[in-house]
Amino acid sequence: MILDRHSFGIWSFIAKHAFKAVFTKIGQLSVSRAIIDTLRERETALYIHIPFCRSICFYCPYVRFPIGRDSKLISKYVNALCSEIKAYGNLLKELDLKIADIHAGGGTPSLLSGRYFKMILESLAENFGAEPRIAIEANPEDLRDEAHVFDLVDNGVTEVSLGVQSFNERMLKSLGRRHTPEDSLMAIENLHEAGVEYTNIDMMYMIPTRSHDSPQSIDEWRADLEKAIELDVDEITCYPTLITDYCIGYRWVKSGEVVQPDKRTFKKMVYLTEDILSSAGFEPVEIYGYSKKSGWKYVTVNYEMEGPLLGLGCGAMGFTGGFEYQNTCSVPDYIQSVREGKFPIAGARFVDLRERAIRYTTCRLFVCRHLSFVELKRKLGEGIDKFIKKSGFGRFLQLLRLTGRIKYRTEGIQLTRKGLFTAHQICWAFVLNVPCRISEKFLKDPWPEKVHIP
Ligand SMILES: C[S@@+](CC[C@H](N)C(=O)[O-])C[C@H]1O[C@@H](n2cnc3c(N)ncnc32)[C@H](O)[C@@H]1O
Ligand code: SF4
Repeated sequence: MILDRHSFGIWSFIAKHAFKAVFTKIGQLSVSRAIIDTLRERETALYIHIPFCRSICFYCPYVRFPIGRDSKLISKYVNALCSEIKAYGNLLKELDLKIADIHAGGGTPSLLSGRYFKMILESLAENFGAEPRIAIEANPEDLRDEAHVFDLVDNGVTEVSLGVQSFNERMLKSLGRRHTPEDSLMAIENLHEAGVEYTNIDMMYMIPTRSHDSPQSIDEWRADLEKAIELDVDEITCYPTLITDYCIGYRWVKSGEVVQPDKRTFKKMVYLTEDILSSAGFEPVEIYGYSKKSGWKYVTVNYEMEGPLLGLGCGAMGFTGGFEYQNTCSVPDYIQSVREGKFPIAGARFVDLRERAIRYTTCRLFVCRHLSFVELKRKLGEGIDKFIKKSGFGRFLQLLRLTGRIKYRTEGIQLTRKGLFTAHQICWAFVLNVPCRISEKFLKDPWPEKVHIP
């Protein structure tokens, strides 16, 4: 099986046909007005994209570019980020916004030295009164250096999501990773030594391997999970390897030179993950995320889907709740645009309340596993009946209820164990057909006239 955007049967069909969006070019004045008018909540999350990596992994679907030892480019980029923060600060000063969560993803934020996070956090404190705390994504090879980890923590990094992926050399090589299993162990030790508050590790399964080798086996995945639970980490996130048309390894998978395990194995791996991590004391916080610290989780997907989220940096996406925007995916264009005092937004669209309700419901139910009716009403001002009951989406939920994939309770709707694999299919069909397609199209053209999704 190939986990690409066409391979989830009915769920791929629904993702391609039920969700349609058009991003268009928008003038600077209209951007300012749209952001102010649609940011209704007084608390927002903030995402900063760092689009640089030391090398590019074979199946990576993100907006990222290889960077050598060009520290000048990083310095220019962080200066541009600070200018962008200032521009948002000026625009939103009347709103008295509170920044609830600051997260840097990529790409590889751990490439940056601590002083750059200090600059970013100082700028956020100056413009939004934000607390000097930031969660970052990190690569094990950067964190095997203890002094670098202390430098990051001393400059405001409080949470880290580490891209371990696997403890198996063969799997790491198949993904095109530069680090070894020992680097990951060393990085985790360094994070504890430095006193980071919360550590998540990312793991990957359904890893493509050369067709003349054996495919990744269930036993290899089990060994990875067993190794992960032995470590003292707060959260374990497990992703199946998704294949986008624009990743390096796409043509190898398409030609059959490399192969992924079959669909039955995919299903078995999903339930094995659930059983091993739950019985080791990790509580499911998402369909792919398991946490040991009750009430905590390292994620931004809720913000991306539900808003409000201010997205900053080259390739970042933002969603105020009523307005969704994509920053340009070209680093030089991003830096130039911000230097000229402009918002570097390459395309944007308005999102009505009904679409927001469906995004919220989908995210809560098929990613977070539970939808609370009270929370939905608090977030959107109206109950579920108003948006969903008589719509196609309402009928879709009824079908899932009748087939035992979700359960209605008085306080909300719950994903069942039977529904877990369905939720995985829905989630990954959506990710591959919507956000990945958006990145693909904006990567092709830094300032497109119009982008149609899917
Ligand atoms: C932006 S990266 C994290 C930080 C760092 N760049 C790294 O890779 O270690 C986010 C995570 O996405 C996951 N990922 C990468 N390629 C993927 C793919 N093709 N399908 C699913 N998840 C993927 C990996 O688990 C990775 O840790
Ligand atoms: S998976 Fe992480 S390190 Fe690899 S190319 Fe993507 S963002 Fe960079």
